[in-house]
Amino acid sequence: MKGIVLSGGTGSRLYPLTKVTNKHLLPVGQAPMIWHPIWKLVSAGVEEVLIVTGTEHMGDVVGLLGSGKDFGCRFTYKVQDEAGGIAQALSLAENFAGGSPVCVILGDNIFEDGLANEVTAFSAQALGARILVKEVEDPQRYGVAEVRGDRVLGIEEKPSAPKSNLAVTGIYFYDGQVYDIIRTLKPSKRGELEITDVNNEYLRRGAMTWGRLSGWWTDAGTFPSLLKANELAQASELPFPSLKRG
Ligand code: G1P
Repeated sequence: MKGIVLSGGTGSRLYPLTKVTNKHLLPVGQAPMIWHPIWKLVSAGVEEVLIVTGTEHMGDVVGLLGSGKDFGCRFTYKVQDEAGGIAQALSLAENFAGGSPVCVILGDNIFEDGLANEVTAFSAQALGARILVKEVEDPQRYGVAEVRGDRVLGIEEKPSAPKSNLAVTGIYFYDGQVYDIIRTLKPSKRGELEITDVNNEYLRRGAMTWGRLSGWWTDAGTFPSLLKANELAQASELPFPSLKRG
């Protein structure tokens, strides 16, 4: 399986911290934010990792990560010219993936669980997609999944009346059909190609499974969530513990 870390966007909700840098380069615990999702991929055995980010800070992202030699993987970089949404960023991975299944992580998702079991589960599934959910107190901030037994009944993006407290985390697994699905999408009201629309198409095809994170999970795209991510990361395992700090 190949890995993709989506690290574009303007980081507008964290302005002015993001005036001169990319959100994913900000500190979370003792590491740059983007190290956390990369660590989860590498420790699940993923060796090829695509990083997608905007033009403005690509140089800094490459400067931080390099070839991947220090991280035990190989990085490929793709530029997202404009912030056109998560699904638009993912569309840039088509050549990199070359038909392989992929594990996609949003670069601001910070979480406790390892992904090795999920990588195995999706490798066994081979086709379709898989989402990971987590109970949250404020589901209206997220994509929200309604599930019954093994089935996902529906996903709504930032609903005002959520049907459950299960946030769709920014950790997704897709087969090679995802790029054809993205080509059929229309921009949402916020002018973006939404990952929730991709997921609902897999649902319509009856090709979506789901799993639940048992440990803590947060995104880090707002001031309160960035603070929470720092507190949780500070108190837990360091990403890439062998890399020298201090
Ligand atoms: C995005 C997705 C949303 C998901 C969230 C997880 O939201 O659109 O479905 O629950 O990431 O971090 P955004 O961060 O773009 O508001």
